[in-house]
Formats: sequence, structure tokens, C-alpha cells
Amino acid sequence: MRSLYLVALAILLMLSSAAARSNTFRAAGVPDPSVYYKGRFTNNLNWVDYLNETLARKHEVQVRNYAWGGASACLSNVSTILFPYVKDLAEQVEDLLADVKAGLLPKRRNAKLLPIIWIGTNDVQFALAAAARLGALPTPGAIGALIGSIVTCRLEAVKTLAAGLGAAARDIVLMPMVPLYTAPAVPDFLKPQPPAAPPQDAPSPPCFIYPSSTLTITPGVVPCKDPNDRAFYDNLHVSTRFHEWFATQGLLPRLQQLRLLPTAV
Ligand SMILES: *[C@@H]1O[C@H](CO)[C@@H](O)[C@H](O)[C@H]1NC(C)=O
Ligand SMILES: *[C@@H]1O[C@H](CO)[C@@H](O)[C@H](O)[C@H]1NC(C)=O
Repeated sequence: MRSLYLVALAILLMLSSAAARSNTFRAAGVPDPSVYYKGRFTNNLNWVDYLNETLARKHEVQVRNYAWGGASACLSNVSTILFPYVKDLAEQVEDLLADVKAGLLPKRRNAKLLPIIWIGTNDVQFALAAAARLGALPTPGAIGALIGSIVTCRLEAVKTLAAGLGAAARDIVLMPMVPLYTAPAVPDFLKPQPPAAPPQDAPSPPCFIYPSSTLTITPGVVPCKDPNDRAFYDNLHVSTRFHEWFATQGLLPRLQQLRLLPTAV
């Protein structure tokens, strides 16, 4: 049996805290454990867990999740002011490199180290929220600048990782950004037009609306009884069923196609 070590590296909040497991929960006790499953921003396991579980059936894997709920790819005053414990992408990269230097990753020689960079939508969300406070939609110029800065911050992270890892890793996975516009939290007028979905394909409503940031606790939220019949668990985060589909039917086959992960799972 070939040993294989996988490193998941991710960023997020809102739509994107998806990959975060318990870093934010350990630091601040959120998201609310009476609503969200063990520090994950969904109703059960997330895609990192499913990827790990699927690979672990036949392979030796060592998954380390550096994601923080509430993180952004670029340094943000929202997280530094409101949630100072949250580590952004650059800090997550530092953590990973420190673990490699300390000999924690990979634990075995000849193991393959595969960093995966996946970001959520916090950068976009924070910018939209700041614009909303000023009572205006961001201008096309501001949106262009935002996209440019997200791309730059992600590439910086890849460069730092590549330089820091050297020969320790041959590949770094940079995943596309999640389709934020699909989230129930996005107002219809900002969604691609025309929606044109026949009624039977219309997205199901989210299981519940979380009335504040998921990095704060608002008592009284009662989730629906059938979260797995819905794409979204809350207004920004997908349900565990969607996570499982994404890990096993979306991400895993792509990484196998690229020969980055074993085909026998
Ligand atoms: C990965 O999955 C295995 C098998 O289910 C489990 O023992 C291990 O704790 C998981 N690792 C992480 C980081 O979740
Ligand atoms: C972050 O900075 C923006 C622009 O300078 C400002 O409008 C916003 O209020 C700041 N956010 C926080 C949480 O301080």
C-alpha cells in the first residue's frame, strides 16, 4: 500500500467557512455548537473530512486543516478588528510551513505532500458589506480592484509556499473560487440574469437563516428537520450532503485525473 499524505489548506467564512473544522471553534467557541456540527460550518462533516475519509479507507493519509472560519485571502480589517484570533491566508501558510519545518508534515519519508488552497468568499463579502454601510453598490472599478487583490493574495500564498516547501512538495492545488452568487444570502438582483430555471430545478430554500455572523452566537435559531434535502444549511453555508458530493464527485475525480491522488479509493 502506497503511503500518501494530504494536506488541506483552506480559508473562509460565510459561504466559505465550509472547510474550516475546529480552529475557530477552539479559539472562540463558534460557530454555535447547538446549530453547527463540532466546529464545522454545516450540519455534519465537511468536504475536507469526506476527502480524508474516502482516501483513508485504502491509503495512509495525514490531513491537516489550516482553515479558519472568518478568514480572508487578503488581510482584512473586519477580521483583524472584530475577530483578531482568526488567521488569514498568509498566516495559515506560515502555520503549514512551520509544521513542515518541525517535521510534522509529512511524518514519513517518501510521502507525498499536497497543499490544497481553497478560499471562500469572505473577501468579497467584507467588501460588499463595507459598500452596503456606505449605502451603495461597489463601482465596477472597485470590483475589478477587489478581484485583482484576491488573485494577488492567493498567488503570494502560492509563491511563499513553493519557496518554503522547496523539494518537499511537487504540486500545489489552487482551487477556483466558490460560486458565491448561488448563496441564498445574495439578493436576487445580484444573481445572473435571467434565472430561467424551471420550477422543479429552483434551488431549495436554506434550512434556516442565521441572523448574524456565524462567528457570533445568536440564541433561538432552530434548524429545519431536513437539511440534507437542501443545498444550503444556512444562508451562506452548504449542507453536509453537498459537502460529500463536492468531495467525492467533484474534487477527488479531478485530482485523480491530474494524477495527484491515487485512483484506487
Ligand atoms: C481521517 O480519517 C480517519 C479515518 O476515518 C480518521 O481516523 C482521522 O482522524 C481523520 N483525520 C482527520 C484530520 O480528520
Ligand atoms: C474597514 O475599513 C473600511 C474602509 O476603510 C471601513 O469602512 C470599515 O468600517 C472598516 N471596518 C471595520 C470593522 O472597522
